[in-house]
Amino acid sequence: MSDEYVRLALEGDLSPIICVVGARPNFMKMAPVLRAMNAHVPRLPVVLVHTGQHYDKNMSDRMFEDLCLPRPDVNLGVGSGTHAVQTAEVMRLFEPVVDVHKPSCVAVVGDVNSTLACSLVAVKKGVPVVHIEAGLRSFDRTMPEEINRVLCDQISDRLYTTERTAEANLNREGIPSCRVCFVGNVMIDSLIFGRANARNAKNTIQTCRADPSILTNPFGYGVVTLHRPSNVDDSQTLRELLGVLNEVAGILPLVLPLHPRTRSNIDRYGLGGLIDPARMALLPPQGYLEMLGLVEGATVVLTDSGGLQEETTALGIPCLTLRENTERPITVEQGTNIVVGRNRDAILDAVQEILSGRGKRGRVPEFWDGHASERITADLYQWLKKMQTKGALQ
Ligand code: UD1
Repeated sequence: MSDEYVRLALEGDLSPIICVVGARPNFMKMAPVLRAMNAHVPRLPVVLVHTGQHYDKNMSDRMFEDLCLPRPDVNLGVGSGTHAVQTAEVMRLFEPVVDVHKPSCVAVVGDVNSTLACSLVAVKKGVPVVHIEAGLRSFDRTMPEEINRVLCDQISDRLYTTERTAEANLNREGIPSCRVCFVGNVMIDSLIFGRANARNAKNTIQTCRADPSILTNPFGYGVVTLHRPSNVDDSQTLRELLGVLNEVAGILPLVLPLHPRTRSNIDRYGLGGLIDPARMALLPPQGYLEMLGLVEGATVVLTDSGGLQEETTALGIPCLTLRENTERPITVEQGTNIVVGRNRDAILDAVQEILSGRGKRGRVPEFWDGHASERITADLYQWLKKMQTKGALQ
């Protein structure tokens, strides 16, 4: 009997797993999980739902192409809105999808509004929730993502973690270890998968018609990403941050692929004068492979993104996190990350250290090895079979 025959014959007895994606950082986490579910023997049947939280070509479609994600089976098309409206819209539109497909579980990744909204719908319908990237905590409840993480974990039945401290966080919140499984980091599965096809940084800069001399500086260049509401929504805060970045650009040219909200706030607050085009290349949001090429070639990354803290640790590239905290402490303890906040002196000192060759070096954390998705799939299959035997699945 061929493997394919066995895969198809066995998959018949499991209801589909609804896999949810919504916003940009979800796509690189779910892509390797879908590949692993498809390759598993037996194949795990999947219905891919895109909530449409991110909808721009650059924020969504290009990611699907770069990550070889299949077209979603369902697109809820919710788009932008306040947190309440966006979350409510996802819930309203996701509920009938669960009714139609009667899934064995709903699998969600990360901490965006779509993650929480779909988890809430599932748990209230008695459908098990599986959370990938569970247990991360910044302990800062002013962050919308922290609220999404805490609540999603509370209602999840199976929780997959990327670092060991996550399990202790979950235990403290009353979630027993028997529900938790340490598997490593699916984000790094995508990184390893995409690396061979990463796009050349020079081409990316040229395609965006930025000043190519940015890439000829003897120190190289830095990559900056900024999109957290706490950094970019207040005009004074954004002004100060751009001022510091302008100073950094005086010693190291910067490439800034900008999130749409950051770009529109720079325009709205009239802060374009703080961008020196000869030293700071403002790019639109980049595809996954363009971004990977830019980051791989960077001397340092300055960011408020969670994913980039992990990717730079995996690549061994110094990272300065422009936040007061991180929910990913392993990137500081073991990796190349330093949390510098918005402190001008701390940022400039750290950049100088890196340029003088004394930047922080790190190591790649346990299980950030490109196989986290396979570990998830193997565990999830066993878990679902156990639940099925117990009659706990609908
Ligand atoms: C969301 C996530 C955040 C994640 C980020 C990655 C939540 C609470 N936040 O934040 O954790 O790090 O995605 O990008 O879910 N916009 C566009 N085009 C798009 C999508 C958004 O122009 O395709 C603009 C709109 O003006 C929108 C704003 O960006 O109002 C914010 O989008 P939203 O999805 O609400 O949150 P993000 O800031 O992207």
